[in-house]
Amino acid sequence: MASSCILCAMAFITAVYAANFYQDIDLTWGNDHARILNNGEVLTLSLDKSSGSGFQLKNEYLFGKFDMQIKLIPGDSAGTVTTFYLSSQGSTHDEIDFEFLGNLSGDPYIVHTNVFTQGKGNREQQFYLWFDPTKDFHTYSFLWNPRIVIFYVDGRPIRVFKNNELIGVAFPKNQPMRIYSSLWNADDWATRGGRVKTDWSKAPFTATFREFNANACVSSSGVSSCRSLSNNSWMLQELDSTSLELLRMIQKNYMVYNYCSDLKRFPQGLPSECSTNT
Ligand SMILES: *[C@@H]1O[C@H](CO)[C@@H](O)[C@H](O)[C@H]1NC(C)=O
Ligand SMILES: *[C@@H]1O[C@H](CO)[C@@H](O)[C@H](O)[C@H]1NC(C)=O
Repeated sequence: MASSCILCAMAFITAVYAANFYQDIDLTWGNDHARILNNGEVLTLSLDKSSGSGFQLKNEYLFGKFDMQIKLIPGDSAGTVTTFYLSSQGSTHDEIDFEFLGNLSGDPYIVHTNVFTQGKGNREQQFYLWFDPTKDFHTYSFLWNPRIVIFYVDGRPIRVFKNNELIGVAFPKNQPMRIYSSLWNADDWATRGGRVKTDWSKAPFTATFREFNANACVSSSGVSSCRSLSNNSWMLQELDSTSLELLRMIQKNYMVYNYCSDLKRFPQGLPSECSTNT
């Protein structure tokens, strides 16, 4: 009895901490293009003609609130993509993405977002930012609970994906996901739809990460319920009326693409979740 209870507490513990990049991540790609600085508080990813780079958090999570501070590539970053996303494994995977599409000096980055459930994506929404994301660190966050996914920039909601299982839309709630970040070349589509190419004479391109925080359920080997050991207010959070107003204001002023208004792309009718995710 006692031992099984200890096991279940160990399988799902709530963690609140700022990651130490020495201890809490694995480099997954282009290891010689990643650098950990300041005793593990800061990590840089670089891209040049030979390689990009990437890392993943060691833990897997089932629900949580995740924050990362990122300072994007300064100057000419056209053709590059910096990512921060959650993903599970396999062909029916779930995935929740921030992708930052670079641009020529002085031209605006695009924040590209997507949500995959059971392997199905095609839910892109894109935004401009209300600040220059290359001058300073800014906080990009996901809130993920059984009812809603909310994307935040500096604490302001820019996108929601609600649980619409009642109308037949799959929601990410059974597959644990891991946090990933990467920096790669995507000049075939990223900047002005691929018309502006990466200028390799400006390489290496470098993005900087710090203060990864997870207030989340850490998942291990197949346990399917979350046991909370501290303040899990994020677990019940939904959009209150103030946040909803802010979300609408941001979408009105900064959204540059919304799959939910792309009637040409969905001539048979918009995806069903589009009716509720505003
Ligand atoms: C880059 O700048 C151009 C011109 O302002 C703009 O149309 C485009 O949306 C910007 N962002 C990307 C990623 O292409
Ligand atoms: C839990 O955290 C939220 C914000 O993260 C805070 O507003 C609330 O007061 C906290 N509740 C308790 C009981 O500490």
